[in-house]
Amino acid sequence: MNGVEGKTTHFGFRTVDEGQKAGLVEDVFTSVASRYDVMNDLMSVGIHRAWKAAMMDWLAPSAGQHLLDVAGGTGDVAFRFLARSPTAQATVLDLTEGMLASGRARAEAASLGDRLTWVQGDAMALPFPDAHFDVYTISFGIRNVTRIDAALTEAYRVLKRGGRLMVLEFSQIPNLALQWAYDRYSFNVIPALGQAVTGDRDSYQYLVESIRRFPDQDAFAAMIGTAGFGRVAYRNLTMGVAALHSGWKI
Ligand SMILES: C[S@@+](CC[C@H](N)C(=O)[O-])C[C@H]1O[C@@H](n2cnc3c(N)ncnc32)[C@H](O)[C@@H]1O
Repeated sequence: MNGVEGKTTHFGFRTVDEGQKAGLVEDVFTSVASRYDVMNDLMSVGIHRAWKAAMMDWLAPSAGQHLLDVAGGTGDVAFRFLARSPTAQATVLDLTEGMLASGRARAEAASLGDRLTWVQGDAMALPFPDAHFDVYTISFGIRNVTRIDAALTEAYRVLKRGGRLMVLEFSQIPNLALQWAYDRYSFNVIPALGQAVTGDRDSYQYLVESIRRFPDQDAFAAMIGTAGFGRVAYRNLTMGVAALHSGWKI
């Protein structure tokens, strides 16, 4: 059960029942899973790699930590985390089996053995005990979740005291002229590129619409605080096209 009957939410610019959204999101990612990594590089002209490197720099993975990477998709964040800390472990959780299958098929997965685990599940109801992980990450995932507050509450629950949350997500550019230019690129180029590479324009139309619906940096920082996290801070990436948010379970 993903939502309360009768309550609505947004799916891109559409309004849908809360209970419908997870299925629609899963359809999007099932459709793009096999071309997901190549599309990421094309759409962002490789910049998502620099953003994920910035995420690792701020996280500074340390020895023996256990990471939970929610909405982990094809494993990008988990692979980077494990590369930086050779004694760490990671669990990748994602709603979409096709995304996990693409991740398991990646060359990096083969050498990691039992340091890396793949789990199908929902960010709003994590199948893990309380106080289990040292680090919780979610990268370009939380804007797809039906109830962001429920996902943050779950993040808080599964982290150990002293554990760290880090969110990488598209954000809002605090400059109107740049936002205008970025919107032109997003709405004109990305759906057409999606059509050319994956044969699926609608999924990439959803992607750009969902970015515009996501709260701005300060509003999202406030949501993280409301979920119980302390020392909440954020850093803009590429002038606010994306942002990293950090919080601690104190
Ligand atoms: C844009 S991809 C991000 C993948 C990866 N984290 C990255 O940074 O490349 C978004 C992922 O969120 C997953 N997702 C969406 N809603 C979810 C939910 N409620 N719980 C878990 N995963 C979810 C999708 O299946 C998809 O794999």
